[in-house]
Amino acid sequence: MRRRFVISILMSLLAPAAFGEIRYVAAKKLWHLEAGPVSYVIGVNERNELEPIYWGKRLWRDDDLAAAHSQPEWASFDLSSTTTPQEFPGWGGGRYIEPCLKVTLPDGVRDLVLKYVTHRIAGDDLEIDLKDTAYDLAVTLHYRVFPETGMIRKSAVIVNHTPNGLTVESSQSGSWTLPRGDGYRLTYLSGRWAGEWQINQEPIQPGVKVIESRRGNTSHQANPWFAIDDGQANEGHGRVWFGALGWSGNWRLAIEQTSHQQVRVTGGFNPFDFSYPLAAGERLETPPFYAGFTEGGWGEMSRLMHRFERAYILPGGLTSRLRPVLYNSWEATEFSVDEPGQKALAEKAAKLGVERFVMDDGWFGARNNDHAGLGDWTVNPAKFPHGLGPLIEEVNKLGMDFGIWVEPEMVNPDSDLYRRHPDWAMHFPDRPRSEARNQLDLNMAREDVKNYIFGALDKLLAENPKIAFLKWDMNRNFSEPGWPEVPPPEQRKLWVAYTRNVYEIIDRLRAKYPKLEIESCSGGGGRVDLGILTRTDEVWTSDNTDAFDRLRIQEGFSLAYTPKTMMAWVTDVPNFNGRSTPLQYRFLVAMMGSLGIGGNLNKWSDADMALATRMVDLYKSVRKTVQEGRLYRLFAPRSDGFSANQYVAEDGRQTVLFAFRTAQHFGYPPPTVRLSGLDERAVYRLKTMDNKLVDKIETASGAYLMNQGINLRLGGDYDSTAIVFERVP
Ligand code: DGJ
Repeated sequence: MRRRFVISILMSLLAPAAFGEIRYVAAKKLWHLEAGPVSYVIGVNERNELEPIYWGKRLWRDDDLAAAHSQPEWASFDLSSTTTPQEFPGWGGGRYIEPCLKVTLPDGVRDLVLKYVTHRIAGDDLEIDLKDTAYDLAVTLHYRVFPETGMIRKSAVIVNHTPNGLTVESSQSGSWTLPRGDGYRLTYLSGRWAGEWQINQEPIQPGVKVIESRRGNTSHQANPWFAIDDGQANEGHGRVWFGALGWSGNWRLAIEQTSHQQVRVTGGFNPFDFSYPLAAGERLETPPFYAGFTEGGWGEMSRLMHRFERAYILPGGLTSRLRPVLYNSWEATEFSVDEPGQKALAEKAAKLGVERFVMDDGWFGARNNDHAGLGDWTVNPAKFPHGLGPLIEEVNKLGMDFGIWVEPEMVNPDSDLYRRHPDWAMHFPDRPRSEARNQLDLNMAREDVKNYIFGALDKLLAENPKIAFLKWDMNRNFSEPGWPEVPPPEQRKLWVAYTRNVYEIIDRLRAKYPKLEIESCSGGGGRVDLGILTRTDEVWTSDNTDAFDRLRIQEGFSLAYTPKTMMAWVTDVPNFNGRSTPLQYRFLVAMMGSLGIGGNLNKWSDADMALATRMVDLYKSVRKTVQEGRLYRLFAPRSDGFSANQYVAEDGRQTVLFAFRTAQHFGYPPPTVRLSGLDERAVYRLKTMDNKLVDKIETASGAYLMNQGINLRLGGDYDSTAIVFERVP
C-alpha cells in the first residue's frame, strides 16, 4: 500500500493531469478516486451508509481526509438520515432529500435503507455493493475515472435477490454532491424546435430545480447536461462542476439545495410515469452519469467535455476520422427527390469539393409529402426506376460517398406497414392516437417491431452496400405511450425498453456494417446526449439554419458537445424566419462545426459557386483544428453585436479565428480581439481570407496576439472574416 502511495505521488508530480488511481484507505473506510486533476472521495460512516466526502481539485494527501461520520439531527423534523450527506440514498428511513432509488415490495413495504456490503477495485473501475437492511435487494454502484480529463462516470445496477417480484419507482444513476455552501449558480440548456441550445443561468436556491424530458426522447426543450459554478466563474476562470447523462429516453436532473446547504444533482431515468417491475432474480441498470470539475471557467469545462467525448464517447474514439464535407438535399428539394434531380445536385456539389452526398426524405414508399409512406422502406419505383444503384454509382464516380435519410421509429397511418400492423403504433386501446406531422410512433419496445425495423434497415444496407451514412431522424415525441399487449404492470417498461431497443438496432447495424456512419437527428437537435453519441458519429444541431440564429444555437451546443459532432449547413436566404445574410457569413458560421451545404445549388450563381469552392477549400485546411482542437469562445453572440470563436489545434501549430459583426453602430470599430491558448514565445504567420486586418501584420508572437490583440475591419451588417495563424517552425 505504502509503495503504491509513493508511486502515486511520483506519478502525479511527473504527469499531474494524466495520472489516475482509485485507492481504498482502509483505516478510514474511504475511497479516493483520483482522476488526473480531480479528486472524488466517498466514505462509509459508522452506520455503514455511503457518504460523499469531497469533489473538486485533486488532493494528494490521504492523511488530510477525515473518515465519514453522520451529522446530528436538526430538531425532530430533520433526522440524522436527512442531514447526513448521502451518496446513493434509498427512499426510506426518514430521508427527505431526492432519493436515488425508490421501490415498493410485494408486501407493501415502501422503505429502503441501503448499507455498505463490500467493494472491488480494478484499475480505473470501482464497484461498491449495497444492500437493504432487511430485504435481499442489492445495488452495485459502478464508478470509472478518466484521468486525462478528470471525468468520472457513475451508474447503478439494481438486482432483486428476493424470492418475489418488486417494483422500482425511481431509479437514478447517482447523485453528485458539491462542497457544502451556497451562492452556487446553475447553467443549463433549454429550447424548442428550431430554437434549441439556449443558455440559461440562475442562482441555486433552497428547493429543487428539475430539468427533464417526459417526451420519450432527449428533447429539444431541455438537454441532460448541467454546469454549476461558485457564482464567480466566467469563460476563462472559476470553479465549475459539470455533468451529463448518457440516456436518450425520458430523463431527469434534480438540482437540489437542501435546508442543510447541501447542493446535489441527482439524475437518471425520469421517475415521472416510471414503474419497472423486477421479477425475482431480475436486474435494472441505470444509464451512465458523467461529471467533471475545473478551475478554468466555462471555457475549460467545454474543452474538457469536447476532449472527453472525442476520446471516450464517440465511436472510434480518437482514431475516428474527421467529418467529411457534406451536401444534403432537404432544403433544396424537400420530398421531390428523383434520380435525375439528385444527380444534377450531386454534380454541382462535387464541383464545390463536397465529400459526402446525402439524399434526404422522400425516396421511399408513397412519400411525396409528409402524409404517407413512413414505415415502407422500399425505394419508390417512379422516382428511382432502377433502384438506388445508379444514383449511388454516379455519386461515387463524382468522388463522394453516399448517405441516405431514414426515420425508422415512425409510421404514417397512410402506409402499407400501418395497414398491416395498426397495433404496432404506440396506443391505448379504444382511445384516439394523436398524430404529429401525420405520423405515429412505432412501439419500439416490442420485440417484433424491433426485429422488423432492424430487418428493413439491414435489407436496405445489404442491397446497397455503398451506402456509407444514415441520417437517422425522429420527428415527433411520444403520445399515448400504451403497450396493451403486455400485462398492465409491465406496460410502463416501454419508456426504458424503447430506447434500449433503438440503441440495440444501431449497435447491431454498426457491428454488421463497420464502415457505416450515422447522424442522430430528431427534427434538428432533439436527440443529442452522451448515450446516442456513443453510437453515432455526429448530430443534426437544429432545423434552424439561419446563420445569425445559429451563432447562439452553436454557442449553447458548444458548452456541452464537441464541434466535431455539430453538423452545420449553409442554406439559402431568406431563411425560414425571413432573414438574409451574405453567403460568406453563412459559410463561416457553418465552418465552426462540421461543414455541410444544404442550399439549392441549381440556383447558385457562378459567383456563389466560386466563393463556395474557396470556402470549402479553406474549411478543409482548418477542419482538423475546428473539429479536434481547443475552442475558445472569445466574444459570445448573446451579449454583443460582435462575436468571435478561436480554435487551437491540439499540437498548437495552427489556430483559426472566426469573427462576426451583426450590426455596426455610429461608425465604431469592433472590439480588439485578444487571442487565447497560444504559446507566448512562439511566432505565428497570419493568413487572412479577405484583408480585414486593420494593421498589416504578417507575423506576430503569441504574447502580442494574446495581450495587444488584433483589430478587424468589420462594418455594416452581417460582416464576417476568418484568419488562420500558422506557428512558424
Ligand atoms: C427533419 C430534419 O431535421 C430535416 O433535416 C429533414 O431531414 C426533415 N426532417 C425531413 O423530413
